[in-house]
Amino acid sequence: MKTIEAVSYPVHFQEESYAELSKLIQNKDYSTLFVLVDENTMEHCYPKFIPNLKTDKTIEVIEIESGEINKNLETCVGLWNAITELGGDRKSLLITLGGGVITDMGGFVASCFKRGIDFVNIPTTLLSMVDASVGGKTGVDLGVLKNQIGLFANPQMVIVDDQYLATVSERELKSGMAEIIKYGVTYDVSLFAHIKEHKEANISNLIFRSVEIKNEVVLKDPKEKNLRKILNFGHTLGHAIESFYLESEDKENLTHGEAIAIGMVCESYISNKLLDFPLQKVNDLKEVVLAIYDKIDLLSEDFSAIMDLLKHDKKNVNGQVNFVLLNDFEDFKLDCKVSEDLIQESLHFYNA
Ligand code: GLY
Repeated sequence: MKTIEAVSYPVHFQEESYAELSKLIQNKDYSTLFVLVDENTMEHCYPKFIPNLKTDKTIEVIEIESGEINKNLETCVGLWNAITELGGDRKSLLITLGGGVITDMGGFVASCFKRGIDFVNIPTTLLSMVDASVGGKTGVDLGVLKNQIGLFANPQMVIVDDQYLATVSERELKSGMAEIIKYGVTYDVSLFAHIKEHKEANISNLIFRSVEIKNEVVLKDPKEKNLRKILNFGHTLGHAIESFYLESEDKENLTHGEAIAIGMVCESYISNKLLDFPLQKVNDLKEVVLAIYDKIDLLSEDFSAIMDLLKHDKKNVNGQVNFVLLNDFEDFKLDCKVSEDLIQESLHFYNA
């Protein structure tokens, strides 16, 4: 599979990638290689990864506990301490081996350590392959508020090797599908049609096309001034719903994809009401979402807490919540203001 050239780094695919990583390590003459894992990627991915790494450099593995709940500054402090104690210096390389939490937080930790050391992303979940590991966004959550602290920083390379997908659960795999659907409805409707028609999905091709789209968008607008905002379709409400489930002790957490899928259904409904996005297409999207994800019963008594969390969305300006809405598939309108009543109506639409 061919390499995709991103802003300042390549995205390599499949097993051939590791030769490129070994070359990078040799050329840059790193002092120490740190590999950031969680308990799952340590057990299932590290043994697949390590034989591919041809180097005589010292390798230090740093393991953290998995889960969005640990994607915070406290964990970062622990990581900076660990790197320091293990002799990390400006010539160290941090290799992130994991899902979105590991790649987002690892990129952030690397970018701040001694004002920035190099890092390489090796995503192991579908979500991190098609979204989190590419595009230069790094960061952590602030309490339950998603990705509030972070910076744009590019890795030296990204390695997308779909052999790691065999190590993740069905639920985790489905989580990544929401981002692929998002690329379909906002940028390439043939991708959406492909998923809708349940065509024999070749996951490698879906991943490759998704990375291509993400990269095209990021190349045009790396700092999310305009076009890149389309990648937030479904995320405005989706993040608030995800945060709500994260903070509700009596409810099971939703995966990012489950929450974003609900967000996309609601935001397409709002698009119909405000921009005449065809109702048939809203229903198509809802049908696709419900074919992949279990229906979640959103309780009306929880709506006001979700609305409160919406007020913290990163795209808000002057206290106004900003949505990306659709005029049609592949045709969007940025920075749309939506009334609280209509947002609540959209949550009822999802429930109906
Ligand atoms: N996940 C959205 C973005 O990278 O812009």
